[in-house]
Amino acid sequence: MSNVIVIGTQWGDEGKGKVVDVLAEKAHVVARFQGGNNAGHTMVVHGETFISHLIPSGILHPDKLCMIGNGVVVDPRVLIQEITDLRERGISVGPHNLLVSENAHLIMPYHKLVDHGREKLKGDKKLGTTGRGIGPCYEDKVTRRGIRFCDLIDRKTFEEKLSLIVPEKNFYLRDFLKYDTVDQESIFEEYLPYAETLRSHVTNVSLALRQAVKAGDHVLFEGAQGTHLDIDHGTYPFVTSSNTVAGNACCGAGIGPTQIHSVIGMVKAYTTRVGRGPFPTELHDDIGDRLQERGAEFGATTGRRRRCGWLDAVVVRNAARLNSLTGIAITKLDVLSGLKTLKICTAYEYQGDRLPEFPSGSGVLEACQPIYEDLPGWSEDITAVKDDGGLPANARAYLRRLEELVETPIHIISVGPGRDETIMLKDPFDTP
Ligand code: GDP
Ligand code: IMO
Ligand code: MG
Repeated sequence: MSNVIVIGTQWGDEGKGKVVDVLAEKAHVVARFQGGNNAGHTMVVHGETFISHLIPSGILHPDKLCMIGNGVVVDPRVLIQEITDLRERGISVGPHNLLVSENAHLIMPYHKLVDHGREKLKGDKKLGTTGRGIGPCYEDKVTRRGIRFCDLIDRKTFEEKLSLIVPEKNFYLRDFLKYDTVDQESIFEEYLPYAETLRSHVTNVSLALRQAVKAGDHVLFEGAQGTHLDIDHGTYPFVTSSNTVAGNACCGAGIGPTQIHSVIGMVKAYTTRVGRGPFPTELHDDIGDRLQERGAEFGATTGRRRRCGWLDAVVVRNAARLNSLTGIAITKLDVLSGLKTLKICTAYEYQGDRLPEFPSGSGVLEACQPIYEDLPGWSEDITAVKDDGGLPANARAYLRRLEELVETPIHIISVGPGRDETIMLKDPFDTP
C-alpha cells in the first residue's frame, strides 16, 4: 500500500487531470480533498476529451473507487450534470465507484449570487473568480452557517437550516450588493430531488478511506488549483478560498499524515495564470502569444484566455518546500519545441536587491522583476518520445536545470495531452 498526493505547484492548470488519469491506472482509490467546480481537469483518452470539475480524474477507469472528501465544496446540480454527462458517454457512475462525504459543504444558489454580486461591485478591482460560489461557500463553512450533505439528505434539517440562512443572504444581496435575491421555497424544491439522486453516494469518506488503506489499496489524492492560489500561502488576495497544498489532503479527506508516502508536484514547462494577480514572468509579447496558442491555454472551466509566461523556478521551489515534494511531474514540454532560447526565472530583483526566495506578504511580488537564465531550445517535435533518452539534449538540459534549481527530481514527463504521451521515470507508488 502506498498513498500519493498530486498537487499543482503554480497557479493551477498544470495538467493535474491528465497525470491523475495516468496514475489512476495503478491506484485503487482516487480522492478529491478541496476546491469545487472552480477546477477544470482535462483528460484525453483515445482522442476523446473529458473535463472533470468535481468528480475525481480516476473515473474513466472502470475499476477505481472515486471519493469526494469533506474538504470539497459541492454544487449538487453540477455534480449530477457531470454524472449524467459521463453516463451518456458510456462511463458507469454510481455508488459503487463514487462516494461523497456527508460532511462536504453544499454550494447554494445564494453563494453564486454573492460571488457574482461582489465581483460586479468591485468593478476594475475584481479578483476574477470563476463565479462558481466557491469563496462564499467556504465562508459559510468557517462561520458555521454552511449546509452539508448530511443536512441535505435530512429533509427537516435542510428546511430548518435554509430558513435560517436565506433571510440573511437576501438582506446582504439586496441591501448591500444591490443584486438579485433568492427564493427559499424554490431552493427547497430544487434541492430536494438532488438529495434523492445523490443520497446513495453520501457516506463517511474518511471511514471508507480507512477501509481501503487497511485492505492495502493505493490511494491517489487529487489536488485542485495550485500552491500559489492557496488561501494561506498563495498570492493573497488573488487566491482561491481553500488550502491547495498537500497538507490539506489529510484534512480534506479525513486521513492522517503518517499515511502519505509521496507528494508529486505538477509543473507546467512554462507558467500560466487565469484571473487577476501578480505574475512576475508574464509575457506580453509574441512568445507569450505563441505559448498561449500552441499550449491552447484557455480555462477548462470558464474558457478565459490564460495569461502565459516563462517557467518560474522561484515559484516551483516555493511549492517544493510548502508541499514537501518528493517528485515533479512536468507537463507540456512539447509546447516549448521550436523556441530558439528558453528562459527560466531563478530569482527576483526587488528594489535593487536579489531575492532568491518567493516573497510572502503583500505588495512585494508585484514589484519584483524576474532574473532570468537563458537556455538553448530545441526544434524537434517530442510528442512521440517514449523515454528520457529520446528527448533532445537541450530538452534534457532544461529538465536537469529545473531539478537543480528546485532540488527535487523529475519523476514524470508529459509530452502531449494523451495518456500514452507520458514518460514515467519513477512510479510514485513504488516507495523505497
Ligand atoms: P488541470 O486543471 O491541472 O487538470 O489542467 P487543465 O486540464 O485545466 O489544463 C491542462 C491542459 O493541458 C489540458 O488541455 C490538457 O489536455 C493539456 N495537457 C496536459 N498535459 C499536456 C502535455 O504534456 N502537452 C500538451 N500539449 N498538452 C497537455
Ligand atoms: P484547476 O484545478 C486556474 C482562480 C480563478 C481566480 C481565483 C479565485 O483547474 O487548476 P475562485 O472561483 O476559486 O474563487 O477564483 O482562482 N482559479 C483557478 N485558476 N485553475 C483552477 O483550477 C482554478 N480555480 C480557481 O481564476 O483567479
Ligand atoms: Mg484546470
